Amino acid sequence: MKAFIVKRYGKKEKLQLTDIAEPVVKENDVLVKIHSAAVNLLDSKIRNGEFKMILPYKTPFTLGHDVAGVIIKIGSDVSKFKVGDEVYARPADYRIGTFAELITMNENDVALKPKNLSMEEAASIPLVGLTAWQALVEKGELKKGQKVFIQAGSGGVGTFAIQLAKHLGATVATTTSAANIDFVQSLGADIVIDYRKDDFEMILKDYDVVLNSQDTKTLEKSLRVLKPGGKIISISGPPDPGFGQQINANWFLKIVLKFLSAGTRKKAKRLGVNFSFLFMRAQGEQLSQITKLIESGAIKPVIDKVFPFEQTNEAIAYVEMGRAKGKVVIKIQ
Ligand SMILES: NC(=O)c1ccc[n+]([C@@H]2O[C@H](COP(=O)([O-])OP(=O)(O)OC[C@H]3O[C@@H](n4cnc5c(N)ncnc54)[C@H](OP(=O)(O)O)[C@@H]3O)[C@@H](O)[C@H]2O)c1
Repeated sequence: MKAFIVKRYGKKEKLQLTDIAEPVVKENDVLVKIHSAAVNLLDSKIRNGEFKMILPYKTPFTLGHDVAGVIIKIGSDVSKFKVGDEVYARPADYRIGTFAELITMNENDVALKPKNLSMEEAASIPLVGLTAWQALVEKGELKKGQKVFIQAGSGGVGTFAIQLAKHLGATVATTTSAANIDFVQSLGADIVIDYRKDDFEMILKDYDVVLNSQDTKTLEKSLRVLKPGGKIISISGPPDPGFGQQINANWFLKIVLKFLSAGTRKKAKRLGVNFSFLFMRAQGEQLSQITKLIESGAIKPVIDKVFPFEQTNEAIAYVEMGRAKGKVVIKIQ
């Protein structure tokens, strides 16, 4: 089958379109014929080698973390799906590889695709949808009537997180540049701050939850918009000791992770707020909940651009520019 593989780590390295062996279907696996994939900054960071310490993929390997397609074979112990089901997923770490014609995934990481979405739309959802869910529902425990600050409302995570937070009944503040103000308002944002012109710290006060996705300076300012007891969940670092446990890190990496977030945790403690780092994980059950929200119309996909399979490198380069409005998708079938 055809796949875009990382042959060598490096910022300037391009993925190479190669013929590789078809994946082997294990007892609990489904084999999916991929119709569409989506690009995430994680793909580019992994290719650059920035994640080598926490996700040590051995080259050559196929990249890609979002998929929508059709099940063409199931393992002997699969109970939730059958051949012909249209599904979508964020495959688990170490089982990635959606920039390809086929992928196998454990059935627990997969969900039925929302019936009202095309394959391209469905592929745009899993990674960012699960990130928003795990940040706002699981860690943030965001409730009706609470106030949440979601940075970068026009990005992949932001566009989904705003809609999810509104569905949960929260008041949503977000940052974006002037050109995207109307757009994030149309997604439901109540308070929109132009990050190039205004300082969100001067405007937002007593927030219950912050979803942090930007740099350290933004993270530190965000600690101060929370009310005492409020929660900040960061998806852009620094990784915390809980993450070390999640990935079963060795003792050395655990110490490094503890050290990296020590300053932030200390500042959060002084302000009486709760800091945690989130590295999203594959989760078919949560994705099934997301399917329901999409089918009910509560959440809509937002796609900036669709690239043909041959232009996978161009799709990654487009995302790397940091200006995407929603998601970038790759059409494979
Ligand atoms: N830990 C995890 O599990 C996890 C999961 C998903 C993502 N992430 C990380 O979270 C970050 C965001 O991911 P993403 O996929 O949402 O990125 P993205 O879609 O590439 O973000 C692009 C958007 O960011 C906006 N933006 C850029 N600089 C901004 C700033 N200073 N303030 C506010 N908005 C700004 C841009 O809006 P304008 O054009 O208007 O500037 C653009 O719409 C990335 O670092 C990604 O790696 C982590």
